[in-house]
Amino acid sequence: MRTLFCLVCAFCGLTTIQARQRQILDADWLFLLADSVQMSEVDYDDSAWRHLNVPHDWAIEGDFYVGNPSGASGGALPGGIGWYRKHFQISADPSPKGSRFFLEFDGVYMNSTVYVNGQEVGFRPYGYSTFEYDITPYVHQGENVVAVRVDNSDQPNSRWYSGCGIYRHVWLTQTHPVHVKHWGVYADARVVKGKGRLDIGVSLDGAGTVENTLMDSNGRVVGRSRGLRSTITVTKPLLWSCDAPNTYKVRTEVKVRGKVVDIYETTTGFRDFRFDPRTGFWLNGKNFKLNGVCEHHDFGCLGAALNEDALHRKLTKLKAMGVNAIRCSHNPPAPELLNMCDTMGLIVMDESFDMWRRKKTQNDYARFFDEWHERDLSDLVMRDRNHPSILMWSIGNEVLEQWSSAEADTLTLEQANLILNAGHDESTLAKDNELSVQSLLTQHLAEIVKRYDTSRPITAGCNEPSPNNHLFKSGAIDIIGFNYHHQWVKDVPQDFPDKPFIFSESVSALQTRGNYMMPSDSVYVAPKEWWLPYTDPSYMCSAYDNMHASWSSTHEETWDVVKHTPYVGGQFIWTGFDYIGEPTPYGFPARSSYFGLIDLAGFPKDTYYMYQSEWTTKPVLHLFPHWNWVPGDEIDMWCYYNNADEVELFVNGKSQGVKRKTASKDDPLCTAYHVGWRVTFDPGEVKAVSRKDGKVVCEQIIKTAGAPDHIRLSVDYQGQSTIFIMAEVVDRDGNLCPWAEDQICFIYEGDGEVLGTDNGSQTSMERFRVVPSVDGRLPTPHRKAFFGKCMVVATGNGSITAKSATLQPGVVTFTVEK
Ligand code: GAL
Repeated sequence: MRTLFCLVCAFCGLTTIQARQRQILDADWLFLLADSVQMSEVDYDDSAWRHLNVPHDWAIEGDFYVGNPSGASGGALPGGIGWYRKHFQISADPSPKGSRFFLEFDGVYMNSTVYVNGQEVGFRPYGYSTFEYDITPYVHQGENVVAVRVDNSDQPNSRWYSGCGIYRHVWLTQTHPVHVKHWGVYADARVVKGKGRLDIGVSLDGAGTVENTLMDSNGRVVGRSRGLRSTITVTKPLLWSCDAPNTYKVRTEVKVRGKVVDIYETTTGFRDFRFDPRTGFWLNGKNFKLNGVCEHHDFGCLGAALNEDALHRKLTKLKAMGVNAIRCSHNPPAPELLNMCDTMGLIVMDESFDMWRRKKTQNDYARFFDEWHERDLSDLVMRDRNHPSILMWSIGNEVLEQWSSAEADTLTLEQANLILNAGHDESTLAKDNELSVQSLLTQHLAEIVKRYDTSRPITAGCNEPSPNNHLFKSGAIDIIGFNYHHQWVKDVPQDFPDKPFIFSESVSALQTRGNYMMPSDSVYVAPKEWWLPYTDPSYMCSAYDNMHASWSSTHEETWDVVKHTPYVGGQFIWTGFDYIGEPTPYGFPARSSYFGLIDLAGFPKDTYYMYQSEWTTKPVLHLFPHWNWVPGDEIDMWCYYNNADEVELFVNGKSQGVKRKTASKDDPLCTAYHVGWRVTFDPGEVKAVSRKDGKVVCEQIIKTAGAPDHIRLSVDYQGQSTIFIMAEVVDRDGNLCPWAEDQICFIYEGDGEVLGTDNGSQTSMERFRVVPSVDGRLPTPHRKAFFGKCMVVATGNGSITAKSATLQPGVVTFTVEK
């Protein structure tokens, strides 16, 4: 899909040394899941190793197993130590006076050691940091070999699925000896008195002159400047916003004796934003809520391996729900996520760490924190600070330093989780006039951020709402961010006078797509208290918005607080998509989360439409559940709607009454956000009609499905090189069979491959990816339907035929660039 990507190729007048060339180094790596010191050596025999392209995640290819040390929290998938090797050519002469060469890894999970031609060039423990090595002293003209040892064997080290390997892109950059340093341009774009003010700072390696050209998105030059520090003013800038994400490009040219030796491009954007203690969030003079979601980095069946199409699909589905903000929880994201947020108009909270000194799992980043935090945090801010989409930095999520209890360092995973969710007593909070070690550490981290960027506020996800939380007490947190604790929001103005407020994390409702726990007006809390286990043989949660964990709430409950409290700037719901790992409230065989508004396969759960009805102006009428029950069953039918005054429900043509959304508690099945009816099931059809001023706005009919008849395939999302195909089990009239669990095999013909399959079930033990068996055969990818549906992800030009034992097959033909 990608070949050579040059910011600039050879320039006129440059004969021997080329200007900057940035080349993606993803193709043709060799991989082995084994460990030996000799694997770093130049002439090590790697001829039998597996050929693959990175981004790659070896854990997603494994089996779910209760004994895997990652535990169910980590997705019950394997870890281990793996090696990657790549042979590559260098045509120029590397030397301090000749060309310089840099190798950049966007992310390797974790503990990576990089060797070039047998020599160690560096070690990086944090699996989410981007890092670059100057490999000029180690390379030569001709063939070179890079070897990367990735060690994810010390587990558990994460509270969610991390993935294993070189799971983001790798880049090889060649420069002139005089060049812009790594992340060496800081384009600080602000709006000052209606004008765009761009302060540009350039850091050079070597001595040269600098000229900057600012261009709008049509390539028109709108300003120029010279020197290492300069300012460009744009009189009427096109502002960056969620609806119109206008960006600009700074082209930095470095010259030596009049000749251009480097060109470096930076995307930037002007926007005027603030968080107000009384009125919440403002962007370009508009006051609105941050309708955000938290996201982990995995792509379901594709694992942690970055796939731009999967990422774009994620963001597209979230944006269609009305999401305008993403929190990269709880670590630096892939650079591509930020690029997409820039161009799609999604606001970002960029987060650094899930823990500081105090660990949450046995082998997590806490063991590296003292030595590495300064480097990792600086690198995050340096890498990301030019993105117009980022409007705040988070220096940590629910770090145990919120409290002063010292035993945290010796806790087991279970104990740490309990402490996380339980809160602490008064004695562990900051005292008046005290600036504790924890508060000093908070100040120190904030100071690191401000060293590299003063244009954005700093927040942290805090699950201790008291103002005596050591983080708050430090004074270094610009935006008070609560995780949960919506009941405490009323105290915010008095507890934090003059500080803006957001929910850095909210809700944590628990849902399985397609499963409905009735009566729907009962709220199921699972577990009832944080210290109690929760079991249910179904290992499912409820797709009505009526189930959540003890520390959390229903979606409607928190949204109601956000919507009606002017000083709440917005929220980041936990989570947009389900993710692998953290299967609260269950343990193994549950291995992925229940928190998402969209399941792991990418199918929206019903509550997705509640937000769509509140957050967008798109006409919404979403009636659920299905209409396949036992005759005589009492069924709660819910409906989310907007742009209408009322909805009427009909069962087999008979009206069940007209209902309106209401904040009064008179009808237990109706709230300010949905209407509901308790009706008796009778096979046939159920119909909802929404009306405004007596006129029909929308209509939805659900029919009782007959016997499963055939498999219907349809394209869920087509990206540039990956296609997502939905398989549904339907009756002969095309009605979805909501209970179908048929095993579906996907027969692929074409020049690409099947990358994975999924169905959104949190307990499916089927492998996500099929990989060749020892004898080289590739098993047929398969997946059971889950509440009637599953998904297959593929590449190439070809066709997929979906077959099962008893259903008529489905076929889909497609063309996707490889
Ligand atoms: C929060 C935490 C998240 C996730 C969530 C589940 O406390 O920040 O990472 O664990 O709880 O409810």
